[in-house]
Amino acid sequence: MKKVFINIGTLIHFDEKSGSPIVENSYLIIENGVVECYGKMEELDISEEYEIIDVDDKVITPGFIDCHTHLIFGGDRADEFQRRALGESYESILKSGGGIHNTVLATRNATFGELLKLAQSRMKKFLRYGVTTCEIKSGYGLDEESELKILEVAKVLKNLLKQRVERTYLGAHVIPKEFKENRSDYIDLICTKMIPFIKSNNLSEAVDIFIEPTAFSIEEAEKIIKIAQNYNLKTKLHTEQITHSGGTLLGVKYRSLSVDHLEEITSNDIKELAKSSTVAVLLPIATLFANKNNFIDAREMISSGVRVAISTDFNPGSAHSQNIPLLLSLAVLKNRLTPLEALKGITLNAAYALGLNSELGSLEKGKKADLLIHNISNYKMIPYSMGDSTVEQVFIDGERVCLK
Ligand code: NIG
Ligand code: FE
Repeated sequence: MKKVFINIGTLIHFDEKSGSPIVENSYLIIENGVVECYGKMEELDISEEYEIIDVDDKVITPGFIDCHTHLIFGGDRADEFQRRALGESYESILKSGGGIHNTVLATRNATFGELLKLAQSRMKKFLRYGVTTCEIKSGYGLDEESELKILEVAKVLKNLLKQRVERTYLGAHVIPKEFKENRSDYIDLICTKMIPFIKSNNLSEAVDIFIEPTAFSIEEAEKIIKIAQNYNLKTKLHTEQITHSGGTLLGVKYRSLSVDHLEEITSNDIKELAKSSTVAVLLPIATLFANKNNFIDAREMISSGVRVAISTDFNPGSAHSQNIPLLLSLAVLKNRLTPLEALKGITLNAAYALGLNSELGSLEKGKKADLLIHNISNYKMIPYSMGDSTVEQVFIDGERVCLK
């Protein structure tokens, strides 16, 4: 039976074919888990049989898409959080063998079952915040066995959960300690063994690379991108986070789906990004967590025509928070997005950042009916409610999902 949501106070649909991203006093019809149409309440003709859901003047948005997370890891870095608060830098901790290496050790030592249990409870937390699609990167295993363990956990989540899961291989996160003296052997391992294996066993949809002096160079990244693309895997880049390394232009050159972080981006990068289809993914929780003030001013990106997404970057070292409401508040306060731009950044533009925009991200005819009912009457309350979720009900494929 078709479902109709009636008395929607504000429907934020982000249908780019429409003149406006929102309709007030509206209805939304879905059939077989897919959006059929929306419109003004006074134009609704209920002559057929429908299951009716009265939204009671509340707000509906598309389901949230977290397009950049490192959700599967063992251990924690609470001690480093304290050390950084007292003045040590992220890079110096990493260089001295801590940072990502600490999480690699804890993740290697964790069993498949332990990682799965942690990941399930994190996904549940995301669901309560309205995350209907979550990208998950590997990158805390680095050696063959441990990277595959993480990607297998992600595969189980993908098959087990109602939430949609997109998997990204981030073997190029840092050079593992055991390859410190022969980094080119590690890059060869990624290119000649890991990527082919991951592709032929369907373990990832994309490949990501961390470009930074403490991680991988532009030349190394280019080599890996070429291989990933030969295997028909999408690519994404962590870049311009701590230093300006030029990864934005590399992403544009290779039509990467997204370039992420970008605190050190330049005006020239923004100009080139605007001519491309590559999405800029802003991660303001990571800027906050780094105790820095170099939040990206997104106005220049938006006015140049760059597609801007936002994400938590949830990970144990640089953004230990799954708090989507906090992310939306920071995007407005610090990245200077409007509330609607921030919401678009975590829905439609995040779908673009994953290459899933033809089926997800907006509530328009033919797209999956992943949506949220927010317990508010004004959508601007969403980023205004800093740290507090407004999500009351979550629907995936048109079905209400239990949040308990
Ligand atoms: O996105 N920048 C690289 N990777 C992660 C942080 C990893 C970590 O510190 O554990 C990030 O910020
Ligand atoms: Fe990240």
